[in-house]
Amino acid sequence: MSRVYNFSAGPAVLPEAVLKEAAEEMLDYKGTGMSVMEMSHRSKAYEEIINEAEADLRDLIGIPDNYKVLFLQGGASTQFAMIPMNLMKNKVADYIITGQWAKKAFKEAQLYGKANAIASSEDKVFSYIPDCSDLPISEDADYVYICENNTIYGTKYKTLPNTKGKTLVADVSSCFLSEPVDITKYGIMYGGVQKNIGPAGVAIAIVREDLITDDVLPGTPTMLRYKIHADNKSLYNTPPCYGIYICGKVFKWIKSMGGLEAMKEHNEKKAAILYDFLDQSKLFKGTVRKEDRSLMNVPFVTGNEELDAKFVKEAKAAGFENLKGHRTVGGMRASIYNAMPIEGVEKLVAFMKEFEEKNL
Ligand SMILES: Cc1ncc(COP(=O)(O)O)c(C=O)c1O
Repeated sequence: MSRVYNFSAGPAVLPEAVLKEAAEEMLDYKGTGMSVMEMSHRSKAYEEIINEAEADLRDLIGIPDNYKVLFLQGGASTQFAMIPMNLMKNKVADYIITGQWAKKAFKEAQLYGKANAIASSEDKVFSYIPDCSDLPISEDADYVYICENNTIYGTKYKTLPNTKGKTLVADVSSCFLSEPVDITKYGIMYGGVQKNIGPAGVAIAIVREDLITDDVLPGTPTMLRYKIHADNKSLYNTPPCYGIYICGKVFKWIKSMGGLEAMKEHNEKKAAILYDFLDQSKLFKGTVRKEDRSLMNVPFVTGNEELDAKFVKEAKAAGFENLKGHRTVGGMRASIYNAMPIEGVEKLVAFMKEFEEKNL
């Protein structure tokens, strides 16, 4: 068996210990004589799996009782619609546009009400986070929406926007569980799990209870009502059972690593190795304003498309996979999520140094 260093933006690298454990339990989960994949979601064994996953997530983040944890389907993109359908009582919401994902969410919200773009960093190819200390928040806004970590562009909010008392909704798909968060600052924090937490097919929404009501937009499908999922503890219909099981294992892995404080330290250390190299390199350079740099997604370029392509090709041959930048921006991007080991980044930087010497 040989495993590569996988720098994919998602689906992405998972902890090897989790994959091994899942492999061991594949044919017979804890004496049940079946795989979790084959198990009724109404069985006692599965009930334990999903309850334990929720309890561990609550423990990791420190989620108070007035927030519900919902395991959902349809990826992060379904939340782009589910959020306005459930929250747009006044049919007004404010969006901060920091990349493609925020923009997609903004466009989707326009199907349901008046969505305002109150700030944007599109003028500089989304390479920074706008100043959000005094934005023109709409008086009747039902919520203010952000994408907290911008997977494609590699930016991250270091300070949450001043929402002037309005509910904050955040897509944290690419920074989920990468550092401690104060959940009480959010009305909804949600994300697809396929970067830091588990296999694609599961989205997790952590929703403040007062936002979960029957007062949704007319025509909201049953499956897109937060209340249905909250009332049924994420078991209204068949959930993505196996995916949630893996998420549960990753929660336990993060706990065993020391929780979110330790994750942050580990992620800062990794990111610093790469950013420090980029800052002194004569060939490669980072594309993001320093103070807005993500710990998770690190885009960089040589300034020469041919050389970028050569780098990606040679890196792949050397066992560093998925370093090509997003198709909309080009260049390179190293996604270094929780499960990427430090030596993965150290070896990548050593490879970049070598490449630089040969190609300067
Ligand atoms: C920040 C962010 N939001 C949303 C999405 C879309 O997620 P999904 O494919 O689960 O709908 C992605 C996907 O990469 C993402 O990075």
